[in-house]
Amino acid sequence: MDQANVIYCGDNLPILRNIADGIVDLIYIDPPFNTGKRQIRTQIKVSRSSKGDRKGFNGQKYQTIKLGTRDYVDIFDDYLEFLNPRLEEAYRILSPKGTLYFHIDYREVHYCKVLLDQIFDRKSFLNEIIWTYDYGGKPKNKWPPKHDNILVYVKDPRKYTFNVEDIERIPYMAPGLVGPEKAARGKLPTDTWWHTIVPTTSREKTGYPTQKPLRIMDRIIRASSNPGDIVLDFFAGSGTTGVSCLKLNRKFILIDNSKQAMQVMARRFSGVSNIEWIGFNPTSFQTLDEDSPI
Ligand SMILES: C[S@@+](CC[C@H](N)C(=O)[O-])C[C@H]1O[C@@H](n2cnc3c(N)ncnc32)[C@H](O)[C@@H]1O
Repeated sequence: MDQANVIYCGDNLPILRNIADGIVDLIYIDPPFNTGKRQIRTQIKVSRSSKGDRKGFNGQKYQTIKLGTRDYVDIFDDYLEFLNPRLEEAYRILSPKGTLYFHIDYREVHYCKVLLDQIFDRKSFLNEIIWTYDYGGKPKNKWPPKHDNILVYVKDPRKYTFNVEDIERIPYMAPGLVGPEKAARGKLPTDTWWHTIVPTTSREKTGYPTQKPLRIMDRIIRASSNPGDIVLDFFAGSGTTGVSCLKLNRKFILIDNSKQAMQVMARRFSGVSNIEWIGFNPTSFQTLDEDSPI
């Protein structure tokens, strides 16, 4: 099997079982969170119209046109039983210097930590990254939950890839306290990452529910892999991991079992020739323009 730039459509478990031991250097996964909700995203387009239903800048009116809806069910009968065999495969597939980033939410993270400790060993637990954002409704009866958790495990805690020099620097919170030289250089991010979700109006937005920001992926891939390494995402969704790999010169294997995810990836990777598609033919989705419903 050619391991470079492959996109599989199908349930990830049998596909993972066919990947050889120890060939993947970095795994990032963002499984459905088991919220029990149906994740739905409606894509709209607005165009100027005197009869429009939205008011914009300078009193201009805009008409909303619904382009389409994408959804998948975020529910499993037994979440940990679903994850367990997949995480065991992830461990087997990881190379001796490899790292797993496991993206999850506050409701499930504690159960998943215990499961991952069993599979990887507690000594292999490197970090819990808190990705915090400020978006969406804020309940008045509790602290508004505005973060995701990313658990980081390495195959071997004595020897793993961590390219500290390649991590982008960020501004100090109080630059006045550190002096002009340090302030100009910026600081290394800690395990708490402040970053907005993918903005609705950005070029990056694919319309796929739960799409993650490219800059979050870039940071992970820069730090925990090297150019030429193989990166695996077996809950690939809109393919953000693959986009980052192309930019940073890594090879990727992406897996998703949703046709809608495949359609989004087909459009996102339109024009990229060195991808082998397995179980899905992307060609009819690669000619659609930005605003087309898919
Ligand atoms: C939270 S989304 C991933 C979003 C992705 N990180 C992105 O940036 O777009 C989870 C994905 O897992 C996929 N999925 C769920 N169960 C799966 C399975 N058994 N095999 C493969 N993919 C699965 C869903 O179709 C969905 O696209």
